[in-house]
Amino acid sequence: MRIILLGLPGAGKGTQAKILTKELGTPHISTGDILRAAVLKGTPLGLKAEKYIISGELVPDDLIIGLVKERIKERDCEGGFLLDGFPRTVPQAEALEKISAIDRVIKLRVKDKKAIERLSGRGTCKRCGALYHTTNLPPKREGICDRCGGELIVREDDREEAILKRLEVYRKETQPLVDYYTKKGLLVTIDGENPVEEVTKDLLLLLR
Ligand code: AP5
Repeated sequence: MRIILLGLPGAGKGTQAKILTKELGTPHISTGDILRAAVLKGTPLGLKAEKYIISGELVPDDLIIGLVKERIKERDCEGGFLLDGFPRTVPQAEALEKISAIDRVIKLRVKDKKAIERLSGRGTCKRCGALYHTTNLPPKREGICDRCGGELIVREDDREEAILKRLEVYRKETQPLVDYYTKKGLLVTIDGENPVEEVTKDLLLLLR
């Protein structure tokens, strides 16, 4: 299946995508993860993208579209893929349409308050990318990943100012995709405010 996960920053897209990939064997394509890895390595893409990510703005479409196009062409995507964080603008959705058909667009619905609460407490493993939360999903040892022992870090765009900017950008640039995919009969909405396991259950019911 070719799936898009849509939703506010902090809706739980990354958390669910990681679980779904294990359950369904579908590759997880996170444009945010790809960009952060590029920033860390200091590649030309990373150097161009960094300022946008830190301030909570979107990276320009032309940088992102080519990247996704190349990734989708890879062999592991032949049987489908799970897009997390792409498309995020109508031009990105239009470009995607020219690259691949899409079977389902799933919106994880959460309110702003919940998204802010989640992003403010998020910890991400520097080594394996596992996600934690200070109160909802704390690691067994503070600051250390349960899975690989890596260091947990706070993303630079999880500062209050950047979080508010990301929510504003979502309303302006990404919210129109809800209409876009509803008109195409592809959009399904799931309550993303439920506990992680319940959201996963709802997603698997829909996808299996
Ligand atoms: P990206 O990395 O895509 O960030 P985002 O969309 O803002 O989403 P997040 O990763 O912050 O949230 P999420 O929904 O994945 O939630 P998560 O599962 O982590 O993008 C970052 C930046 O890169 C953008 O701002 C932009 O600059 C750039 N970029 C990326 N893609 C782009 C594109 N296509 N075009 C242009 N620019 C692009 O969960 C959050 C927290 O909540 C975690 O702590 C988790 O443990 C907890 N949690 C999750 N689910 C639950 C639950 N059900 N109950 C309780 N806690 C939960």
